[in-house]
Amino acid sequence: MNEQIPLFNTADQLAPLREKLHQASARVIDSGRFIFGPEVTGFEQEFADYVGAPYAVGVGNGTDALMLALRAVGVEPGDDVVVPSFTFYATAEAVAAIGARPVFCDVDPATFNVTAATVEAALTPNTTAVVAVHLFGLPAPVQRLRDLLAPRGIKLVEDAAQAAGARLDGVAAGALGDAATFSFFPSKNLGAFGDAGIVTTADVAVADKVRLLRHHGTTNKQSHTMIGYNSRLDAIQAAMLRVLLPELNGWNDARRAAAAAYEAAGIREFVTPQAVPEGAEPVYHLYVVSHDDADAAIAALAERGVEARGYYRTPVHVQPPMLRWAEGAELPGTARAAATNIALPVSPVITPEQVEAVVAALSAVAAVAT
Ligand SMILES: Cc1ncc(COP(=O)(O)O)c(C=O)c1O
Repeated sequence: MNEQIPLFNTADQLAPLREKLHQASARVIDSGRFIFGPEVTGFEQEFADYVGAPYAVGVGNGTDALMLALRAVGVEPGDDVVVPSFTFYATAEAVAAIGARPVFCDVDPATFNVTAATVEAALTPNTTAVVAVHLFGLPAPVQRLRDLLAPRGIKLVEDAAQAAGARLDGVAAGALGDAATFSFFPSKNLGAFGDAGIVTTADVAVADKVRLLRHHGTTNKQSHTMIGYNSRLDAIQAAMLRVLLPELNGWNDARRAAAAAYEAAGIREFVTPQAVPEGAEPVYHLYVVSHDDADAAIAALAERGVEARGYYRTPVHVQPPMLRWAEGAELPGTARAAATNIALPVSPVITPEQVEAVVAALSAVAAVAT
């Protein structure tokens, strides 16, 4: 039987850090500081420095990060917030959860990302914010979005859940919008050991508001100035993330090397990889390609020991709870991206031989199909 090639490989990636991770968790357990404290402020500072954003505020997860960031940049209940439909459900869910209205925009099926044109087509007189998702680790065209939105006073929030370490024209995801949100869900490029997230921003007022919102609208647990949440970054997660953050650039380089190896092995003969625009430095949270008969290809790859997966086959705007906000939405790029995408194995520890084996399996699939 062929070697099995998994979609992700977090276990092998973390194995060399086992000792340091155990020490970090022991440090927190022995300290007795589980909420806030030096591990949280330490990680917030280190992540802000990493991104090049003046402020980073740790929160419970990437979904809360979106809710808090949207409220902090000024989105009020009843406002319209433009979001892509080809994304993880949480992007739009966060908008609805704060009482605002998700307005779905299309994506370019080549990049899987929003464009200035697709966002512009979705703007309404009530739009107060746009969420640009850096999907699969590829930065969305944020500069063009800023040029479109800033003159209209519309805020831009980056959903950088999948894009820790990605850059656009040399600027890191997280330092491109009015605020940005990250998820440290375990499978992310920077993954915690449970749920965790962070908001980054250059605006001290936004950072201060996220700090209040994550902690019941208070700084002292005596006087409360707003209806907030209980959504803090746990000290134990912060301590573990401090071990992992110094590894992130090396891991992302290894993911980019895997993407280059897919190209060198001739993957374009069989499928079309996510298009990378000029100036974008992706981090390949997922290595995603398009194929007209995607599900058949995935099944055939599985028979050859290669784990592959279609993402977001049912786009967000046709999920039942979202239908009320999606009346009349026509999103052909989304439909195409949803139907044709295939995520292929990628991780910092995938080997060139494994990449070649995936491409060989794709060539066998193509031979069967023709
Ligand atoms: C694009 C995107 N946005 C938001 C989220 C939500 O993050 P979390 O699972 O940490 O709440 C995720 C990931 O899970 C995501 O991939």
